[in-house]
Amino acid sequence: MQINHDNQKEKAKLSDIKDIAEVESKHAPEILKWGFKKFGDKMVLASSFGAEDVVLIDMMCKINRNLTRVFTLDTGRLNQETYDLIDKIRKKYDIKINVYFPDPSELEEMVANKGMNLMYDSVENRKLCCNIRKIKPLKRALTQSDCWITGLRREQSVTRNKIMKIEVDTLNNNIIKLNPLADWTNDEVWAYIRENKIPYNALHDKGYPSIGCEPCTRAVEQGADPRSGRWWWEIDTHKECGLHWKEGK
Ligand code: ADX
Ligand code: SF4
Repeated sequence: MQINHDNQKEKAKLSDIKDIAEVESKHAPEILKWGFKKFGDKMVLASSFGAEDVVLIDMMCKINRNLTRVFTLDTGRLNQETYDLIDKIRKKYDIKINVYFPDPSELEEMVANKGMNLMYDSVENRKLCCNIRKIKPLKRALTQSDCWITGLRREQSVTRNKIMKIEVDTLNNNIIKLNPLADWTNDEVWAYIRENKIPYNALHDKGYPSIGCEPCTRAVEQGADPRSGRWWWEIDTHKECGLHWKEGK
């Protein structure tokens, strides 16, 4: 497959990638090596600095630190513990982390019309907030890339149990999406973190298995559904912000 970087950019189609079956059968580090070779600096990791994402940063840096590109979406409502970890990781691996913020005028308009804590008023408001603070910045973050990597795992929720290790992202201009940890269990993630002594978000030790924005994430009881602390006031079991999932998809 040839990827052309001019205006008439040819986006990857899954059918173009001859080695799909091969990618699906690979382990996470081999998938990352494959990605570096295929996409070079046009491959980028989306990191919220959750447990899965720090595993991927460690793996990528061990394979090729100079080619490791990482971005995060700072919604403006993250926890202090997340900001602390971003700096820790930046220093430990000596890598640049690109931080994308929401468009200030869209944010000002939203808050003026709907208030600071609009997310609690309705699902519609919550989705508006996610759209302005996350989804639109994600689109900007991906404009120069042909492939993005995420820390999604099948075990995480019903909306994720069918994800593949390699996909074409129809929500984002048909670029390739790699989910190298798709078949990992939570225990495998934590074993890797401990074995490799990777810094992780302090909130994980305070009952947060999944960490998003501060107003929308809370601690859960041990053994509870790991995503039950996200948007906990909503009853829908298909709780997603839209970064990876679209209703009716
Ligand atoms: S979310 O869609 O509900 O927020 P989750 O927190 O489970 O997703 O994270 C799944 C993956 O989405 C992460 O491993 C990461 O690749 C990406 N992601 C989620 N939030 C962000 C963020 N704020 N910045 C960059 N990537 C993110
Ligand atoms: Fe807004 Fe909450 Fe979505 Fe963060 S998770 S963007 S604060 S609604």
